[in-house]
Amino acid sequence: METEVISTHSPAELENVMKRAVLLLRSGQVVAFPTETVYGLGGNAFDEAAVAKIFTAKNRPPDNPLIVHISHQDQLSEVVECIPKRAKLLMDTFWPGPLSLVLQKHPLVPDITTGGLNTVVVRHPAHQVAQALITAFGKPIAAPSANLSGKISPTSAQHVLTDLHDRIPLIIDGGPSTFGLESTVVDCTTHPFIILRPGSVTYEQLRAVVPDILPHSTDAVPRSPGMKYRHYSPTAPVILFDGEPHATNTAMQQYLDKHPSQSVAIMWHFGRSMENKVNFQLSPEPEKAAPRLFAALRSLDETHPDVILIQGYGETGLGAAVMNRLRKAATTIIDT
Ligand code: TXA
Ligand code: MG
Repeated sequence: METEVISTHSPAELENVMKRAVLLLRSGQVVAFPTETVYGLGGNAFDEAAVAKIFTAKNRPPDNPLIVHISHQDQLSEVVECIPKRAKLLMDTFWPGPLSLVLQKHPLVPDITTGGLNTVVVRHPAHQVAQALITAFGKPIAAPSANLSGKISPTSAQHVLTDLHDRIPLIIDGGPSTFGLESTVVDCTTHPFIILRPGSVTYEQLRAVVPDILPHSTDAVPRSPGMKYRHYSPTAPVILFDGEPHATNTAMQQYLDKHPSQSVAIMWHFGRSMENKVNFQLSPEPEKAAPRLFAALRSLDETHPDVILIQGYGETGLGAAVMNRLRKAATTIIDT
């Protein structure tokens, strides 16, 4: 199947692509669409055959459930059984936006969508094109990130095309994703609530609304099925340098001195310049680095280096989400 990429620059283009996308969704097909976090690969959340197509296109393991996207809180009653008071508080504060909530699932949501769990993850995205698509379709849309399973999440239509060309009929191009990291996932079926996946809505922000919420824990047994799988893996091995920025920069320089014949690609943000190598310099502020993180990783990997070296970030604020993704991408972590 040939993959069509349609842009949404003008109102006429947007209208045209919405018509195409809704026709596809109604006929049980899948469509890639932009959100403010990463691009999603969507299908009718209630159509088992459509959801099966999402798993096939991505090569996704069937026990890794999907996020159900809505365009209005009124749609919640179609997908969840009940809404705890503090979950409602989170919705009213952070929706629409990059926050996904685990809730008790409605019996009509098929098992294939939730990987057989009795819970479902729901998100109300802020991206105008995502909202327009869900509204025009009129039903909740199940969508994981639109990458091949195990690979880096897509933050542009081109990234989706690279991974899923000829596997899906349509990619809606809404330009680069503004946040660039997947949504924060919070389990609202536990007491207290717990962050299963750190993301653009930070622990600090969530704690201001639900004071006893537990931060994401790196050593806990994965409670989110997806967290047990290797993610964000470039083809080249990745060495992550973890620690304070002077120390990580020094350790990276030492690595280069010790391995003069290796072809390296470097992602860095602080200290002595790495510009004499294939490199991508990000902002030292994780908030500014995040939107370009996945694109940087993809572009460095495309130079086919022997190894990718990455300078880590501190773990406060958005740094927690950035380091979560970098740890999953890493084959080796060097503590400095
Ligand atoms: O920003 C995002 O969240 C993007 C955009 C497209 O919305 N979506 C996304 O989906 O990142 P995905 O499938 O790549 O990640 C969903 C995560 C996975 O780790 C999955 O295991 C977890 O959410 N998840 C899904 N349903 C769950 C459930 N019922 N309980 C616990 N974790 C669940
Ligand atoms: Mg994903």
